[in-house]
Amino acid sequence: MSVLQHLPLGRFIEAAGRGSRKTGRTVQMSFILLLMAAMAMFSANVSAEVPNAVPPEGTHSGIHVEQPIEFPHDIHADVNKINCMYCHTYARRSKVAGIPPTSKCMGCHSIIATDKPRIQKLTEYWENKQPPPWNKVHDVPDYVHFTHEKHIKRFVIDNEDLQVENVSEVCAFCHGEIKKMTVANKVKPLTMGFCQRCHQANDGPSDCWKCHK
Ligand code: HEC
Ligand code: HEC
Ligand code: HEC
Ligand code: HEC
Ligand code: HEC
Repeated sequence: MSVLQHLPLGRFIEAAGRGSRKTGRTVQMSFILLLMAAMAMFSANVSAEVPNAVPPEGTHSGIHVEQPIEFPHDIHADVNKINCMYCHTYARRSKVAGIPPTSKCMGCHSIIATDKPRIQKLTEYWENKQPPPWNKVHDVPDYVHFTHEKHIKRFVIDNEDLQVENVSEVCAFCHGEIKKMTVANKVKPLTMGFCQRCHQANDGPSDCWKCHK
């Protein structure tokens, strides 16, 4: 539906309306045109939320990773609309996106939901000056060179047409709809073919040594 909203529908609907008073042929033609426009949009696989980008193809059945505290991305990023980059601050300036320090959590959770068992566990880690031992969900082999910075620069910072609240859709290219998840799972393949196809579609580098050092 979101793709359809970006089609110049008005013109076609108007044409179809006129056609009903004129000949059936006009209606038929405008429908064919509408279908062709829709098909062109789908085959070019243009993302409605991230302008100037061709989203990568490929899926992966989610891997569930046990965490010391189940961190609900849905409550924070979707319900409370906290931007991904508020917590994953380093994504725009370094190789890693980083996991936020507990002090950032406590800015809210020293007063919010303090009666909840998960928040009590979090507070315990905080008081013992120990970060929760978060387990990695996404991991590429050590011989692969990956950097968040270049990707965030290209698809977020330099992408003037992107709305700030849609930054999560850029992350979703490689991580799926994290903002809907009750616990972060890996749902994109992150294989060589996945990376290469997206580089081809978006004028990214194709030299082996860019991704392998
Ligand atoms: C309130 C802070 C907060 C916000 C906002 C937040 N995250 Fe997270 N994120 C975390 C914490 C804590 C973890 C570690 C726990 C886990 O992996 O489930 C994490 C883990 C992740 C992981 C898995 C990391 C790995 O090990 O591979 C990804 C990917 C991720 N976040 C992406 C996002 C995206 C995309 C958004 C926006 C839709 C977002 N995060 C918003 C705190 C946050
Ligand atoms: C900007 C404020 C804010 C920050 C920062 C924040 N949270 Fe939250 N968190 C919330 C709100 C709001 C809720 C929903 C509370 C409710 O339902 O009563 C919530 C809920 C939770 C819950 C679910 C509690 C439950 O069982 O219902 C967990 C777990 C949690 N947060 C962990 C974290 C962790 C870990 C961090 C740091 C990485 C963090 N939060 C950072 C605002 C925040
Ligand atoms: C082009 C693909 C791509 C995009 C876009 C992307 N990531 Fe990642 N992300 C990865 C890969 C690959 C890894 C695993 C890196 C590794 O193993 O060293 C990763 C790892 C992570 C991690 C784990 C900690 C770390 O830094 O290694 C977090 C958190 C994360 N990403 C958050 C985000 C957020 C938030 C966004 C959007 C602002 C985002 N990512 C955009 C590919 C991407
Ligand atoms: C959403 C599409 C997309 C995906 C998926 C993607 N990339 Fe990229 N990547 C790009 C684009 C576009 C650039 C060029 C950015 C620029 O230079 O403006 C780039 C740049 C890079 C660079 C920087 C090269 C340099 O010039 O230093 C590396 C390294 C890289 N990608 C590795 C990866 C790896 C590894 C993966 C898979 C885990 C991956 N990328 C997945 C689109 C993507
Ligand atoms: C856009 C990034 C990217 C480019 C460009 C790239 N690779 Fe890779 N390559 C990867 C990733 C990511 C993996 C890890 C795959 C996985 O974990 O499934 C990988 C894995 C490999 C492996 C190990 C495969 C295996 O089955 O164990 C070899 C060998 C390799 N690449 C060679 C190359 C060569 C040769 C080139 C140039 C023709 C190249 N790569 C270009 C991202 C890239």
